[in-house]
Amino acid sequence: MGDQSSIISIRSITKRFPGVTALADVTLEVRQGELHAICGENGAGKSTLMKILSGVIPDFDGELALDGKPVRFKGTREAEAAGISIIHQELNLVEQLSAAANIFLGREIRGWLALRDDRAMELAAARLLKELECDIHPRQIAGSLRVGDQQLIEIAKALSLQSDILIMDEPTSALTEAEVSRLYRVIERLRKRGVTILYISHKMDEVFHLAERITVLRDGRLVKTLDRMATSPQEVTHLMVGREIESIDFGSQRQAGEVLLRVQQLSLPWPGHARGWRLKDVSFELRRGEVLGIAGLMGAGRTELLECLFGAATEPPQGRIELYGKTVMFRHPREACAAGVSLVTEDRKRLGLFAAMNVGENISICTLKQAGAAGFINRTREWQMATATASRLAVKTAGLAAPVTSLSGGNQQKCIIGRWLQTQPRVLLLDDPTRGVDVGAKAELYRLIDGLVRDGIGVIMTSSELPELLTVCDRILVLSEGRLTASFTRAEATEQKIMEAATLGIRNAG
Ligand SMILES: Nc1ncnc2c1ncn2[C@@H]1O[C@H](COP(=O)(O)OP(=O)(O)OP(=O)(O)O)[C@@H](O)[C@H]1O
Ligand SMILES: [Mg+2]
Repeated sequence: MGDQSSIISIRSITKRFPGVTALADVTLEVRQGELHAICGENGAGKSTLMKILSGVIPDFDGELALDGKPVRFKGTREAEAAGISIIHQELNLVEQLSAAANIFLGREIRGWLALRDDRAMELAAARLLKELECDIHPRQIAGSLRVGDQQLIEIAKALSLQSDILIMDEPTSALTEAEVSRLYRVIERLRKRGVTILYISHKMDEVFHLAERITVLRDGRLVKTLDRMATSPQEVTHLMVGREIESIDFGSQRQAGEVLLRVQQLSLPWPGHARGWRLKDVSFELRRGEVLGIAGLMGAGRTELLECLFGAATEPPQGRIELYGKTVMFRHPREACAAGVSLVTEDRKRLGLFAAMNVGENISICTLKQAGAAGFINRTREWQMATATASRLAVKTAGLAAPVTSLSGGNQQKCIIGRWLQTQPRVLLLDDPTRGVDVGAKAELYRLIDGLVRDGIGVIMTSSELPELLTVCDRILVLSEGRLTASFTRAEATEQKIMEAATLGIRNAG
């Protein structure tokens, strides 16, 4: 087990925000060189604790010591200088800057006459990205990348700091299976170098694969620290929620009804790209009362497919989309919403949340019309609906009037899901909806989806977690490099078969 001495001592740390105690008297010793996982429900206080360790939150009660010496960081720079860096749950990239500029932001490499040396930074960035087995060009603009790639830039940035202690706050939430194994390899290499890692994840398989010890937080309190070898995912989950989670049983088979959506030969051009197409000749049907899953690796075209159906594609798609038997081609999400199609996006920061608004407004922003008779916005009605939705999804908040940015990551995601549920869509598109959502809320969401389709709507969803698709979906389509390579019923589908179809054709091309 190596050196057992502790590198970080967290002593009686308490952190209060208006209306909530995010951390209450937390005491924990982190050992030199260990991979220590932090688990807990949405809003348990995981990110808050990590923000304190990394200098993001400078004011708190209690004490912090590194190698036995008391420390008090006034900012992230100080924490970085002391060897601690963090990869945030909510990405912090400057969208207008290149990958390389983001990696070295504030620590630009300078050469002759202290001039910024772009070439050196690009080379260094390329090396780091290569270490992550990632093919992003250092000069690529961060804002043009998908969430998964952006997350890799954050990781590269943390690697460039050469820290002794690395905090990863849900690093895999936007990664697909292949990228997760790539991240595992990176973590392995870091650990060989003796780096201590604090790792937050809602995924038990990850936690049990990587961690030596696991600390469970609940409502800001430290419940227990466990040795991985002496515990089980069941025990950890139980400690997290403090009750048994009912296993989700979709019970009776769902009955698929008439065709809601028919997609024929859908293609989405990709100007200037060697592949030429983000999507090519995709055809399928969605029926009433069914959940259709879309599987595929990152870049396979899952998000693009949903965006085409929602009128949010970057280019006009080719081919034909029929909704309730009528040919449609939405030019704007507004038109899709009006026709009863809703999309819950994967990237809540960029497309989903209105940071300047409070929780209630974020939930009701799409249903204002419904709440208002004769063009008036009925505040009371709006608030009642938002309250009902928030409690249905168990959004943890100091109140609907709290700023949405004060919510934990998972609770922000719940707000966006709630917003679209309120619009009562006929076709609901969900792009990786449970990203960052805890086990209890996941089960609740699965139940909601099941209820919705039994009421006669159709759902298309993607997920970065295959087991989730296998639980929720009636049928699963697999995309590989923009083409449909397989279609399985729930009975036929296995992780193995899906992975094979998802990598079909990729190897020969490379
Ligand atoms: N800046 C803030 N202002 C007010 N309240 C906050 C702020 N940051 C966090 N909180 C509250 O503190 C509590 C803990 O939040 P935290 O982000 O640490 O949770 P978490 O365990 O990381 O959850 P998740 O799994 O959803 O990411 C939540 O109730 C949250 O609403
Ligand atoms: Mg968090």
